[in-house]
Amino acid sequence: MVVLGGTDGRWCWAAIRSEPRDDRRHSSRVSGRMAACGQRSSAMSATDAPIYLDHHATTRVDPRVVAAMAPLWAEQLGNASNPHHLPARRAADLIDQARAEVAALLHADPREVIFTSGATEANNLAVLGVVRASPPHSHLIVSAVEHASVLEPARRLQREGYEATIVPVDRQGRVAVDEVAKALTPRTVLVSIMTANNEVGTIQPVGEIAALCARQGVVFHTDAVQSPLMAAAACREVPADLVSLSAHKIYGPVGVGALLVRRKTPRIVLQPLMFGGGQEHRQRPGTSPTPLIAGFGVACRLLRESHPTESQHLERLRNQLWRRLQAGIPGVIRNGDPLHGLPGNLHVSIPEVDGDALLARLTRVAVSSGAACSAGDHRLSHVPLAMGIPEALARASLRFGIGRFNTPEDIDRAADAVIEVVQRLRAARRGHAGEEAGSFPSSA
Ligand SMILES: Cc1ncc(COP(=O)(O)O)c(C=O)c1O
Repeated sequence: MVVLGGTDGRWCWAAIRSEPRDDRRHSSRVSGRMAACGQRSSAMSATDAPIYLDHHATTRVDPRVVAAMAPLWAEQLGNASNPHHLPARRAADLIDQARAEVAALLHADPREVIFTSGATEANNLAVLGVVRASPPHSHLIVSAVEHASVLEPARRLQREGYEATIVPVDRQGRVAVDEVAKALTPRTVLVSIMTANNEVGTIQPVGEIAALCARQGVVFHTDAVQSPLMAAAACREVPADLVSLSAHKIYGPVGVGALLVRRKTPRIVLQPLMFGGGQEHRQRPGTSPTPLIAGFGVACRLLRESHPTESQHLERLRNQLWRRLQAGIPGVIRNGDPLHGLPGNLHVSIPEVDGDALLARLTRVAVSSGAACSAGDHRLSHVPLAMGIPEALARASLRFGIGRFNTPEDIDRAADAVIEVVQRLRAARRGHAGEEAGSFPSSA
């Protein structure tokens, strides 16, 4: 049995290679939950590969990014932070080029880009950095559907004596600008609201929230990991002060991201998370990973160049998938905001099926489910719960994240597989199939 791991920590995924026939019954009985939570793994050949529809968790590195990075691993690059000889100057040039590409994606100044190890670090730096550099008992506002790398630092700050307000979302997962306005106090120093949710795909009104914060003199941070271009477009009039990005969500390498810190007056002061070097304006010390940063830069350029064609492609495929699931699965429910949603996201709840069984049987499609599983923990994700989705439906949910390389054929095959599994599970549940769910053939 083979499992592909999702990387966003809140999600199980279902990407389990079919066993040789004799092993199937055993493995589906013994390892249902365990398998769905990634506690087993081994290599997977290309022909076994399930259709990958988990692009909110991570994306494949674009071959053009691979090609740009490949020679850099073999080349003798120097340490970019001390460019007193040619190899080091070459590294510094590569990093400068990448910095310019990241900035161009967000209509920013390259001097505003701080490279990090990814968005978890960028979010931590934004939230902890702003509040810890503020007076004691300062206040911050986050939404109930933020990624854990925003919510956990906010909780940490509460334990340190700061105040935090978690604003609610509506049934579509959207934050109301009024709720943010109501939560502001004279001690508020930071508002952090994501651009688009990584589970249900809901896009937040970040342009309006940025404008509100600017009027009140409060720093505004947005986690733009799932849609940097939307953050750039929404915040064109009034830029967000801090923006988090991650390369591996935009077809770049894993292990690198950025926090954009606007240069403005008064200056945004961040307390660093780490100390011990002058890199990245002393905000993020440590030797820069030149090939990763160079790859990130190329990924940013490709994303910019592919817009809006890529969005249209994703939206077409998402609509195709939704039409197919609606036609094949009576009662299927779409979650998230259909008017303000990521083009490549489809989040559905499927009544009358058990979420774990669904994932365990869905071997030909790599997707995520609504049941969080990190280190074998089966708590439900906080996002559907914050939206008021009943627990049983939240548990029986699937998140499809469609990506750049998916085709209409992928979507048809994935829809066929999902529909087949749901029909069989429902039949088994109603006792019509004459077989208990545990002996369900692992064919989809
Ligand atoms: C919305 C959001 N923010 C932050 C992160 C963390 O990103 P990284 O994997 O680069 O640390 C993720 C990853 O799943 C995400 O989806």
